[in-house]
Amino acid sequence: MRNYDKKYVSGSKSMLHGGDYNPDQWLDRPDVLADDVKYMQLAHTNAFSIGMFSWSSLESEEGVYHFEWLDDIFENIHQIGGKILLATPSGARPAWLSQEYPEVLRVNAERQKQLHGGRHNHCFTSKVYREKTQQINRMLAERYGKHPALLMWHVSNEYGGECHCDQCQSAFRNWLKEKYNNDLQSLNNAWWTPFWSHTYSDWSQIESPSQIGEKEVHGLNLDWRRFVTDQTISFYKDEIAPLREVTPDVPVTTNFMADTDDLIPFQGLDYSKFAKYVDVVTWDAYPAWHNDWETTADLAMKVGFIDDLYRSLKQQPFLLLESTPSQVNWHKVNKAKRPGMHLLSAMQMVAHGSDSIMYFQWRKSRGSSEKFHGAVVDHDNSTGNRVFQEVAKVGETLEKLNSVVGTNRPADVAILYDWDSNWALNDAQGFGMETKHYPQTLQQHYRTFWEKNIPVDVITKENDFMNYKLLIVPMLYLVSEETIARLKTFVANGGTLIMTYISGIVNENDLTYLGGWHSDLQEVFGINPIETDTLYPKDKNHVSYQNESYELKDYATILDMKGAKTEGMYLEDFYANTSAVTSHSYKNGKAYYIGARLDKAFHESFYSTLIEELDLEEDLPVKSGKSVSVQVRRDNKNDYIFIMNFTEKPQTVNFEKKVKDMITGEQLKGEMQLEKYGVKIGISPRQSTK
Ligand code: GAL
Repeated sequence: MRNYDKKYVSGSKSMLHGGDYNPDQWLDRPDVLADDVKYMQLAHTNAFSIGMFSWSSLESEEGVYHFEWLDDIFENIHQIGGKILLATPSGARPAWLSQEYPEVLRVNAERQKQLHGGRHNHCFTSKVYREKTQQINRMLAERYGKHPALLMWHVSNEYGGECHCDQCQSAFRNWLKEKYNNDLQSLNNAWWTPFWSHTYSDWSQIESPSQIGEKEVHGLNLDWRRFVTDQTISFYKDEIAPLREVTPDVPVTTNFMADTDDLIPFQGLDYSKFAKYVDVVTWDAYPAWHNDWETTADLAMKVGFIDDLYRSLKQQPFLLLESTPSQVNWHKVNKAKRPGMHLLSAMQMVAHGSDSIMYFQWRKSRGSSEKFHGAVVDHDNSTGNRVFQEVAKVGETLEKLNSVVGTNRPADVAILYDWDSNWALNDAQGFGMETKHYPQTLQQHYRTFWEKNIPVDVITKENDFMNYKLLIVPMLYLVSEETIARLKTFVANGGTLIMTYISGIVNENDLTYLGGWHSDLQEVFGINPIETDTLYPKDKNHVSYQNESYELKDYATILDMKGAKTEGMYLEDFYANTSAVTSHSYKNGKAYYIGARLDKAFHESFYSTLIEELDLEEDLPVKSGKSVSVQVRRDNKNDYIFIMNFTEKPQTVNFEKKVKDMITGEQLKGEMQLEKYGVKIGISPRQSTK
């Protein structure tokens, strides 16, 4: 079991509370800026991201700079003991820059050059844009690098998207030349280009994927997505070069995202690569709380999954950099958080590893597209309204949780999330075109552990597998020989591995493995999956497992048994009475294969058996039902226990051992009612050596 030392990854020993502050929208309203400073204290806030969209306020014309307003803001926040996450402004550029240097404008996949406007839309290759951002970043670093209020660099904002301009095409070709050692034939082989006569005879023929051009060469699509990640990181590395040079001790981050409404990890960039270049992972969470398609607990489970993925990227606490205190303005329906939900959702973030609760936005803008997005301070400029009061309550709570900062969540269980596999699988024309649902499937495997309060690391192939007792790799469609070898070693050394249908199908170039399943996988699992049946939504089939019948949907793999033991059998169709779920001992470990997409009840039963066998149950001092989540952060001395009611009804929880309430200081003992959306945070000396 890994042992974490406390790490103050943000550079602060206090929980951060605050958010995006855009004073540059109010420079002609000194009264508003004065109120801000007063209200920040009333809201118990202490950290602000500033300047992410301030380029035109900082440089109104090329070479004409205005830093005085920012100097004042630094002073104002410093006066109240606040900290600043200073943003670099590349997320949105001034009009003069696009006008003077049109190469910074993006070209879309249909090869149309975009006009100036919006944000998050610059070319990542443009030499001019890289130079311009470096210039302004250096000036910011030189001016504010030594300011005592500077806590961290917030680089740009939510990098994403892609550009298909000529410069990007040529950067892509260079990236490919490097990857394929200047050997076009090896690229042709990797991309299987003789198919439909797609063989390239010159590098210059290669173009990025497009609806009006090439979109069927899967190897090309995959390499393009990898290039987009690498090119974005390359842009970011250029952005941070002057910051590292001038302020080597100031941590650097950029805010990651999730895809909403069906809350899953962000699909556009491979964060497992990006995370190596940030000092602390930060992310922006906008779950659609109180939606009409899932329970609050179901959504909370998905939030927990993403938290556990983003925490595991660096195996250290992360920061929540944006969230809304009330509602957003871009969901299909922008519902207000019900009373109590703000504190609950904030504490869930902390429970899963966040050392901050930050908002978009401090104050609602008066005009433009985000004027109705939730904020700490509304258009009424009041500190008495419900939202402000709930924010202040979160602030007061966080002030009592400073000892949690830097603590982690050691886990024995890991689920493997893989961006490459997801991209390749979504591209695959086959299986069910609309039922692949890779991230959602992983969330379903995560569910039982979340419901049983067993910590999980959601890792990527960049992480070490050997840290875990149980490793779950659902739908690992794309897997390299190297990863197969690592999985084999994991089992050989005593690990328990779970794999499912549609795994181990293609290699890292998206080329299928030939001659049956990879021999190493056959050896470890004692099976050879020979056929995957895809089901229509109304098709029914069942699997018997431990004398119960469970419903399956979408996928059923037919297995050739090569020494594995049958754990579950198909009950219907032409593969009735053949194996659906298997287990196989390999050297010191064990490998299970789940051949079908089985329901919630199956996962609960299957994983409960394993949890018992592998002794994964946490020895928690408090017992509760399923929808009350109990999550623990830990240091060498204490467990910090977060008990959260994700239901609309009071729930009974039972403190079997005494726990001290970190907020009220009272001892929690015996049975108590946790109100609707209620949360308790307790501290208890370490119970176990886990
Ligand atoms: C984020 C973005 C913020 C703000 C927010 C609204 O994606 O970084 O600037 O637009 O969304 O929810």
